[in-house]
Amino acid sequence: MDRTRAIDHVTLTVSNLDRTKSFYEQLFQTKLEKHKENSFNLLPVGIPVWFVQWEKQYPRDMFDERRIGLDHIAFHLDTLEELEKFVNRLQEMGVKTVGLERFAGKYPYVAFRDPDNIQTEFFIPEEFMITRDQAQEILHSHVKNQNLRRHCLAVGAVMKVLAQKLGGDPDEWEVLGLIHDSDWEETKDQPDQHTKVTLQRLQDLGYTGSLIHALQSHNTKLTHLADLEGPMEWALETCDELTGFIVACTLVSPTKKIADLAVESVIKKFPKKEFARAVDRNQIAQCEEKLGIKLEEFVQIALSAMQSIASEIGL
Ligand SMILES: [Fe+2]
Ligand SMILES: [Fe+2]
Repeated sequence: MDRTRAIDHVTLTVSNLDRTKSFYEQLFQTKLEKHKENSFNLLPVGIPVWFVQWEKQYPRDMFDERRIGLDHIAFHLDTLEELEKFVNRLQEMGVKTVGLERFAGKYPYVAFRDPDNIQTEFFIPEEFMITRDQAQEILHSHVKNQNLRRHCLAVGAVMKVLAQKLGGDPDEWEVLGLIHDSDWEETKDQPDQHTKVTLQRLQDLGYTGSLIHALQSHNTKLTHLADLEGPMEWALETCDELTGFIVACTLVSPTKKIADLAVESVIKKFPKKEFARAVDRNQIAQCEEKLGIKLEEFVQIALSAMQSIASEIGL
């Protein structure tokens, strides 16, 4: 079979090149160069996208996807933050859009139209997101210790609920929880390598996305890879420590069953310095300032998330 490897470039016809050029200059916040007076190159890398204006045009022509030919064009993005930035910019520019949507209920995108009515999107595709199954596979192939696996499961479950509360992507936040300590066994003798090994692993697999930044901020005191900023990062920072504290509370409770543990008994143990000494209370209490969730509610959220997977975490 004779075949080609990929599309080399796409060229779109517009009615007024200057108008389209300034539209994209505003949208991408960049200066674009014209070529041969009648065209410009918007994206020189990836699949290059060119715009061209013909001297002879159909009178009052407008793009219509119902005609034969192009339906729409989609620009690839890696992270929700980038996508949100473009949603805001489109709104500032007065471009009509319904805002962030999800294709098949999952893959985030924003759709809009350029000055010639050409349907255009920014899109985050499926293959750049890690699924829960893939995350679990990474965890199980690199972590043999059952308690550590359970810790990651617990953090994943809490992260998922926190995402629902804080407007994050529940699947992505859960995945972050599942993999955040997946290189711990390999790096336990070199603590400054913790997370770096997982990050390299994800990069080798071609994963990108906001999850990468969030993971860079885990163990940042030793790796200095990224500052702790944003709700996803702070959710991990605070609930990582809290899940450990809840496990400790369960193990000293009368029935040793997490289903029987009450929020009040967790809160009561919080100020007791001699109890679960290794757990950093300040790190947990930052939920109030960084996530806007009161400590008691934070404990409630984490406890019920962990109770919902009690058998999986052996409690
Ligand atoms: Fe960790
Ligand atoms: Fe952890």
